[in-house]
Amino acid sequence: MHLTRRQFLKTSVLAAASSLVPAIGRTADPVRLLTAKPGQARLMDGYDVTTPIWGFDGAVPGPVLRLRRAETLDLRLVNGLTQSTSVHWHGIRNVNAMDGVPGLTQEPVPVGESFDYAFATPDAGTYWYHSHYNSVDQLTRGLYGALIVEEDEPPAARDIPLILDDWLLQEDGSFVEHQFTSMHPRTHGGGMGNWATLNGDPNLKINVPPGEALRLRLINAANARVFPVGIGDVDATVIALDGQPCTHHQVPEEGLRIGPGQRADLWVRFEGDVGDERNLLFRHREGDVVLGSFVLAGEPVTDTSDAPKLPDNPLQKKLGMAEAVELPIRMEGGAMGQMREAVYKGQKVDIRTLVREHGLAWSFNGVAGLPERPLGRVARGRTVSMPFINDTRWPHTMHVHGHHFQLLQKNGAPINDGPWRDTVIVDPGDRIDVAFVADNPGKWLIHCHMAEHMAAGMETWFEVV
Ligand code: C2O
Ligand code: CU
Repeated sequence: MHLTRRQFLKTSVLAAASSLVPAIGRTADPVRLLTAKPGQARLMDGYDVTTPIWGFDGAVPGPVLRLRRAETLDLRLVNGLTQSTSVHWHGIRNVNAMDGVPGLTQEPVPVGESFDYAFATPDAGTYWYHSHYNSVDQLTRGLYGALIVEEDEPPAARDIPLILDDWLLQEDGSFVEHQFTSMHPRTHGGGMGNWATLNGDPNLKINVPPGEALRLRLINAANARVFPVGIGDVDATVIALDGQPCTHHQVPEEGLRIGPGQRADLWVRFEGDVGDERNLLFRHREGDVVLGSFVLAGEPVTDTSDAPKLPDNPLQKKLGMAEAVELPIRMEGGAMGQMREAVYKGQKVDIRTLVREHGLAWSFNGVAGLPERPLGRVARGRTVSMPFINDTRWPHTMHVHGHHFQLLQKNGAPINDGPWRDTVIVDPGDRIDVAFVADNPGKWLIHCHMAEHMAAGMETWFEVV
């Protein structure tokens, strides 16, 4: 049934591309509309001001899209913005034509027009959707939401998606405009905010009965900030990372680092008296910042069940390392970096010209910006071994589209029982080796998820044929 569905999608997309009736092959209108448009949000605690955001359905975050594993998401993106847009379904091992990457898998959706996305979701887990066009503007202004894919039999717990973000705002609630144009965040650590929100709320409070099991689905939608997240001295078990079930472990004392694009599912239970508050903390080096609070309320629940082991997703986990194709990615550039020049559109360009004329400051393997030719063409079913080598002075969160990879080594030392992820933090000077089976045909983007870094050159792609 899925194959037929995929097949159908390919033909319908091709048909649309050759400008036949776009809805050819459809038997019905999409199940829902998702409109990218301006809105207002109250993002600053203690200030009676709103921020002119851009959001899906005009809100930050956009609506929670929730479906069952193997179910088809079927919607029409309507562009109500003043510039083109697209939607990427982050972490979904999608059919290529539905991946939402302008310039690679689709044309950007022009102002006032729409694009139909329809695909079946192979994996259960915590995913998210966001604009993948002009991300420095569109991600910053709020075009994202949670995409939750439930297990066939979800564990019994209250399930709470929590999207982390930070915003760079002035006292009147407006955006600090230079963040959209300045080269500074692009050459340094990316766009950092001065206000943090959870689900677009600067002061989120959630009532929970004492003792009730909760599944918190944390999603980092920030442009560039890595959030070390902690929950006071409550036992919190990490049960999944980037949508994939992982070996259970506790949130470390110094916080669980969640980089831009990454997700973590935590299993927690708050004990205590009615009225007590437990905080979700951003463990900032200058002191904890409260991201949101759980307020104990209502009848206590006696539940002593352990964190559940989530069922495995149908990921191809058998790596064929002996015949693996090696596609290393060496990151260079940025402030205080060693990069003197890079290839841009087939030409060697010196760093000054790159920065001044093209707004580029970083390279992968000596190439800045999306190359015309892929990093590699890999036969379907082959294993790809991908070392991420960070030769810069800044952390990067490397994201591979269409696949999940296993973390194998860090600086040459094996990572025991490495998790399967779609996005990994690579700290300055580090080398992290990952691998995956390239089993999803199409053209797939690889980039740093820090929006300003991607805009300034940190992107490439590979093709599975
Ligand atoms: Cu979440 Cu290419 O992105
Ligand atoms: Cu980066």
